[in-house]
Amino acid sequence: MRLGLQKTANNPPQRAWRALLWAFTSASLGLLALVGSNADRASAQPGPASFTADIQPILQSKCLACHSSSSKMGGLVMESYESLMKGGIHGPSIIPGKSEESRIFLMLEGKVQPRMPFGGDPLPAEEIATIKAWIDAGAKGPLPGETSAPLKPLAIPDIKPQVPIASPVASLRFSPDGKVLAAGGYKEVRLLDPATGKAVASFLGHADYVRSLAFSPDGQKLAAAGGMPQQGGEIKVWDLATHKLLKTMKGHSDCIYSVAWSPDGKLLASGSYDKLIKLWDVASGQETRTLKDHIDAVFAVAFSPDGKWLASGSQDRSVKIWDVASGQRLYTLSEPLDGITTLAFSPTGKQLAAGGYDRTIYIWNLGDKQGTLAQSLIADEDSIIQLAWSPDGKVIASSSSDGTIRFRDAATLDPLNVLSGQADWVQALAVSPDGRWLAAGRYDGTLSVYDMKTYKQVLGPTLAFEEYLPPSQRARAVAGATGTVANARVAREVRP
Ligand code: HEC
Repeated sequence: MRLGLQKTANNPPQRAWRALLWAFTSASLGLLALVGSNADRASAQPGPASFTADIQPILQSKCLACHSSSSKMGGLVMESYESLMKGGIHGPSIIPGKSEESRIFLMLEGKVQPRMPFGGDPLPAEEIATIKAWIDAGAKGPLPGETSAPLKPLAIPDIKPQVPIASPVASLRFSPDGKVLAAGGYKEVRLLDPATGKAVASFLGHADYVRSLAFSPDGQKLAAAGGMPQQGGEIKVWDLATHKLLKTMKGHSDCIYSVAWSPDGKLLASGSYDKLIKLWDVASGQETRTLKDHIDAVFAVAFSPDGKWLASGSQDRSVKIWDVASGQRLYTLSEPLDGITTLAFSPTGKQLAAGGYDRTIYIWNLGDKQGTLAQSLIADEDSIIQLAWSPDGKVIASSSSDGTIRFRDAATLDPLNVLSGQADWVQALAVSPDGRWLAAGRYDGTLSVYDMKTYKQVLGPTLAFEEYLPPSQRARAVAGATGTVANARVAREVRP
């Protein structure tokens, strides 16, 4: 699935829906499968199109999942004629009589990006023509006497996509010994060999995207966090020797965006869209504390290398430093002008870097009572998605929705190199523990590994979630005994 996203830096509406983007990707996976059922009717019907008979059914089946009053993407609500005509963040989407000046038509045609329906297949030409004709005929509402029930979003149909869609790479982490690269995707974690990109294991059964990963410091376990948007957060802890699921921890009321493992191995921290941070005792699987102070989604959590502090970054434009032992908030760093999506401690733990929607990398010197801004730099042309600090402390790598990965001198933030023209958003970045490799995972499902010294790509781009068969099934598949398991999986998530 490709996202033709507008690269319009940091406009506020964009960030509002950006935060919801993951939530709706599953919806659009479902929508892709819906076939235009109104197409024949439109072409069969002469005369000006009617709002209730012709337009509403298209909006209902193709648009409403993202343009209901609860999802409201682009500020546009399509539940009634009135709300549709009101328009979105760019003002009215429909100029009666002038389809060529109407944003809705231009976006359906792809003349204004992103093309609608967002992330899905373009509407059939007949449906676009119907909408165009209706606008050109004055974009009339329901006729007097015509009942126009307010539209309600369809339940997201549980139809498996009929077109091949590569799961985005939502998260990446190297194991402490550097030998395994874990990749989180749609309902799945892959363990890959970072040298070859080959899958060595696959962990299934996650509720939705695995948005964040953390290895235990001893390298024996992997925490994979995510959960269903608006339903609940979930952390699954996997044993890396046996590949068994050890625990599933639930507690947040919305999905988890970030998980971190404490350096002593005892605690997990999670940050969620529900605005809360939770600490979990790994041994018992119990939630031990809820840290509550952010007033918006928490997108990033990180332990200081000595384990005393937890840093959290939120859509509420702040970074907070917490005392892990007491759960007390020590202080708030409030310089950012917009939501924070990513955090990275310096290896010494004395500094913290943060980035997000205001395109700026902030670096603070952290004290016990307060932090002071050491430097800040508008580092990218669009939102910063991920930051990673090299283990030797010298380099900060960032990925941005401007389509780049940048390397900077951590002391000065001077640019060292840029890998521009990334095929898609780099949602996931991870530096190997020896500091040699940077792994980058993209929204289009591809993965690359770069050499941190030469900036050369040493692996990829390769699809992270290519069909994986465990060795036992692989043998059977080869023997021709079973196509079923393989085919079931291919049908569900073919990676071309
Ligand atoms: C999977 C989610 C999704 C679906 C389905 C979807 N949209 Fe959108 N729509 C968005 C997002 C996200 C934006 C904001 C894009 C931006 O500003 O960059 C948007 C913005 C718009 C806007 C611009 C509003 C404004 O004022 O900026 C129009 C018009 C629009 N969509 C029309 C449609 C139509 C028509 C359909 C159905 C054929 C549709 N959309 C289906 C997600 C979706």
